[in-house]
Amino acid sequence: NKGKYEHYMQKEIHEQPESLTTTMRGRLIRGGSCKSMSVLLGGIKDHLKTIRRSRRIVFIGCGTSYNAALAARPILEELSGIPVSVEIASDLLDRQGPIYREDTAIFVSQSGETADTLQALEYALENGALCVGITNTVGSAIARHTHCGVHINAGCEIGVASTKAYTSQIVVMAMLALAIGDNTLSSQARREAIIDGLFDLPSKVKEVLKLDQEMKNLAQLLIAEQSLLVFGRGYNYATALEGALKVKEVALMHSEGILAGEMKHGPLALVDETLPIVVVATQDACFSKQQSVIQQLHARKGRLIVMCTKGDAASACVGGSCRVIEVPQVEDCLQPVINIVPLQLLAYHLTVLRGYNVDQPRNLAKSVTTQ
Ligand code: UD1
Ligand code: F6R
Repeated sequence: NKGKYEHYMQKEIHEQPESLTTTMRGRLIRGGSCKSMSVLLGGIKDHLKTIRRSRRIVFIGCGTSYNAALAARPILEELSGIPVSVEIASDLLDRQGPIYREDTAIFVSQSGETADTLQALEYALENGALCVGITNTVGSAIARHTHCGVHINAGCEIGVASTKAYTSQIVVMAMLALAIGDNTLSSQARREAIIDGLFDLPSKVKEVLKLDQEMKNLAQLLIAEQSLLVFGRGYNYATALEGALKVKEVALMHSEGILAGEMKHGPLALVDETLPIVVVATQDACFSKQQSVIQQLHARKGRLIVMCTKGDAASACVGGSCRVIEVPQVEDCLQPVINIVPLQLLAYHLTVLRGYNVDQPRNLAKSVTTQ
């Protein structure tokens, strides 16, 4: 039931304040007699000790689920102190990459039925790793075959393009990082700030959804383009990849997410006065580096669309003029949840304006159960 919306993708983008609330329900604990804050993930609480002792954490997924893991990696590394790698399921299988008994392998899948992810799970089980699932589908193959896991509880996702599952996956992985780091005193203030941030997140997502009309106007401007580049780094490298994935899969426009740190190692050659480029430059430890990227893109006469923190337009857009997308600020590790929303809206409106099928893009299936 699409309710007041024209398409499932549109509905699923707009229901993110609610889906995120459901994802966190009963899992965040704030206040109480000792005023402590913590996270309770019922599905993994008995395995936390084993996870903390593991030599490596390896995320495994495909497409959007892979991007979500990439978004969560920095905070997991920070709070756990354990090396974290992120693998595309098919690539891990192609390489038969090493997986050890001392590893925790985390399988991320909205459907819980993706063939490559499932096969990688069998491979990790054979190699003796602790296998953890993060899925949206109760009773799915991945939920059944993992040793333990967390349901993201985002509600049924119908549009082929994954939207609300992505933001809920990031939130679950951030909660996982909090749970793993729960016994570390030195990071307590940081963890409390993130938990506060999680409580506020649905209202911030509601705020960023108000950019709908602005993103529609931007889509109108980009309607006839051949290509769109998206630059990001740090927490928002994933935002660049995921934004580009949405644009290519539904709007059928070539789009590429680029790690801004790699700009001078090739992509800069593409920049001219015609190619549109989105640069994600919200406030975090990488901001000054992104300012310098923007400056250099301006020097090549790049057509820039800069996503920055509210009130930051002047400092973000240095060295030239650019279109600006201003978003609310949240705790740095949660910012990818906010930043993807305008790009989801952009992909949605581009698709409608270009006259393509939003919910069933050509050649794609919601769940990829064959290899
Ligand atoms: C569970 C209940 C929830 C109830 C809550 C109250 C289910 C599905 N969930 O939620 O309805 O309100 O307790 O305490 O009944 N699992 C895997 N692999 C996965 C995902 C999950 O093995 O990929 C396992 C978990 O380890 C756990 C079970 O499935 O044993 C349920 O997981 P989850 O729904 O995340 O647990 P709770 O949040 O505790
Ligand atoms: C993109 C998209 C796909 C899926 C991928 C994995 O919008 O939906 O890239 O993310 O096929 O699917 P799951 O998460 O079900 O394993």
